[in-house]
Amino acid sequence: MSTQADDIKQLTAGLDPVAALTKLAEQYPGQVVFSSSFGWEDQAITHMIFANNIPIKIFTLETGRIFPETYYTWNRTMEIYGKTIFAYYPQHEAVEKMLNEKGPSSFYESVENRKECCGIRKVEPLNRALAGNKVWITGIRAEQSVNRHDMHNVEWDEGHNLTKFHPIFDWTLDDVKAFIKQYTIPYNTLHDRGFPSIGCQPCTRAIREGEDFRAGRWWWEDQSKKECGLHELIIDNK
Ligand code: ADX
Ligand code: SF4
Repeated sequence: MSTQADDIKQLTAGLDPVAALTKLAEQYPGQVVFSSSFGWEDQAITHMIFANNIPIKIFTLETGRIFPETYYTWNRTMEIYGKTIFAYYPQHEAVEKMLNEKGPSSFYESVENRKECCGIRKVEPLNRALAGNKVWITGIRAEQSVNRHDMHNVEWDEGHNLTKFHPIFDWTLDDVKAFIKQYTIPYNTLHDRGFPSIGCQPCTRAIREGEDFRAGRWWWEDQSKKECGLHELIIDNK
């Protein structure tokens, strides 16, 4: 844990999510960003930021393979709050090369191919989105997976040289749903159809009763390999 992450731990201790986000934006002006995939955790945090005019830039990694429902949620959110959610796209040359060599569905063929696709479509754009920032806000919750249980709400991200802050880390899914309902926040209708975790369309399926929250992500792969490179650094670092 770096000094900066320690400072942030102290700065946010005991604060509710809105107060913590406000404090971080004051402490690191123009250097706090929030990544949204338009799942309901992210919609709750987007509401906190936009409704309270907290100066935190919100961005999404537009992989080119997201669901129509996700585009709808994105558009609706920008309309309702009258604010921008910024898009980061992959480098087109890298996408073209991958598809020309391996076709449009290479990710089903091996973990290596899947990581190549996530690397091009998510990780490289993420690195650009995070460059020069001090704090990266995410919608991660402890309850989402066994790996995530072992994480903390404040973490030093060595790879990106910044601190990650998960403002609703301890919320349950019911807490998230209640918040969405209380403030009539627009949410992705895929959640009503068995998708607790929403990623790219070809790599996400609905889950069955009793399955893990993340069982529908890269469902054809071994459970232990199922992080996409956005968050695995932190898990490896522990
Ligand atoms: S992932 O690692 O499996 O893709 P997950 O879907 O659980 O992550 O989302 C966890 C957090 O990662 C989200 O709350 C969000 O902050 C960030 N995230 C995931 N996918 C994206 C995306 N496409 N664009 C922006 N942020 C994302
Ligand atoms: Fe590619 Fe699937 Fe990763 Fe999306 S989730 S970037 S489609 S491998």
